[in-house]
Amino acid sequence: MSLNKKSVDDINVKGRRVLVRCDFNVPLKSGEITDDTRIVAALPTIKKLVADGGKVILCSHLGKVKEGPNEKESLAPVAKALSEKLGKEVKFIADYSVTGESATAAVNAMNEGDVILLQNTRFRMEEETKPEKAGEAFAKELADLCDDYVCDAFGSSHRAHASVSVVTKYVREKGGNCAVGYLMQKEIDFLGNAVENPVRPFVAILGGAKVADKLNVINNLLEKCDTLIIGGGMAYTFLKAKGYEVGKSLLDETKIDYCKEMIAKAEANGKKLLLPVDTVLIESFPDPIDNPDIKTEVVKADAIPADKEGADIGPETQALYAEAVKTAKTVVWNGPMGVFENPVLAAGTKAVAQALADTDATTIIGGGDSAAAVNQLGYADKMSHISTGGGASLEFLEGKVLPGVDAADDK
Ligand code: 3PG
Ligand code: MG
Repeated sequence: MSLNKKSVDDINVKGRRVLVRCDFNVPLKSGEITDDTRIVAALPTIKKLVADGGKVILCSHLGKVKEGPNEKESLAPVAKALSEKLGKEVKFIADYSVTGESATAAVNAMNEGDVILLQNTRFRMEEETKPEKAGEAFAKELADLCDDYVCDAFGSSHRAHASVSVVTKYVREKGGNCAVGYLMQKEIDFLGNAVENPVRPFVAILGGAKVADKLNVINNLLEKCDTLIIGGGMAYTFLKAKGYEVGKSLLDETKIDYCKEMIAKAEANGKKLLLPVDTVLIESFPDPIDNPDIKTEVVKADAIPADKEGADIGPETQALYAEAVKTAKTVVWNGPMGVFENPVLAAGTKAVAQALADTDATTIIGGGDSAAAVNQLGYADKMSHISTGGGASLEFLEGKVLPGVDAADDK
């Protein structure tokens, strides 16, 4: 799918101040970055702009910032990691006002090829407010710092926030370019091609806890794919819709009718809809979640007793899903098959990861938990593409227009 948006290859940033919105929302533990995927993924665009002689001003949110600005959600560790990976200083503007005097002074002092990182955009509460409210003022302050704007924050591109989309209005107003970066292009190429122009057969695999989170994804994919595979906690609502008892398994009562509709839709559209045929039962949820000292038993999907809960797909289901993956030319996977955080309940997720690793098909992993699972299980380098967006890739698979993409200039 070619994105009809201006990219960093279409603009000349020499000597110009370029504001780049990245998604540096990385997991931190005691101030250390535990997964730097999103930082690594942002490097190609940053390097390109540096090489072209731009003055590169990076910005991002980190965390939810529920209690106001605080050191735990400062982007300082990201600046350090970025400096190391780029092999050049990334000056960090620690000021909680993000766009205040120290940011302005630092930008004024920049030379061509310099890189600075602003503080967490969510330290300004206006970042997330409706554009018609205070978000406009913050967006304008961001725009005042730059000549051109590049959005490379795929993981945040489903948020119509000040630094993601509203800012483009002010950059454009003063004649600046609004482009997308290489990461945005790559994500949309992979995800967009898979959904809109897949090499068939196209097999989509959905897992995760809740049907409610994936309603529109299921609906949209049933129109685009050839086979839809369902696993994870959400499978039990489908099994219930088929008339099976699911015991204490995760069940979304309000979505049983929806699942019935989807089963009927698959049939009407001539799509294969694969549900678990057996399941791994536990007596109670492991505590802590990764406690391997648990008792499991495997039963057929229509024989779940009232006092047990399903926590992974069983071996027959693993084989069935792996077989379906074998026939595919394009596979999109979002959501684990079971409680993969627990080594005893990771077999289903592992089997699916293994099936994807073994095929020559184009394999695309939606972000969030499935990306974490693939990384944790050691299959990352076997996949064609692992999205850096969780919510964003899901919304993309729903067929929604992402505000961060939409806001860029058309070519
Ligand atoms: C993410 O990690 O999902 C993105 O960075 C977006 O963050 P958000 O869900 O807090 O908006
Ligand atoms: Mg999120």
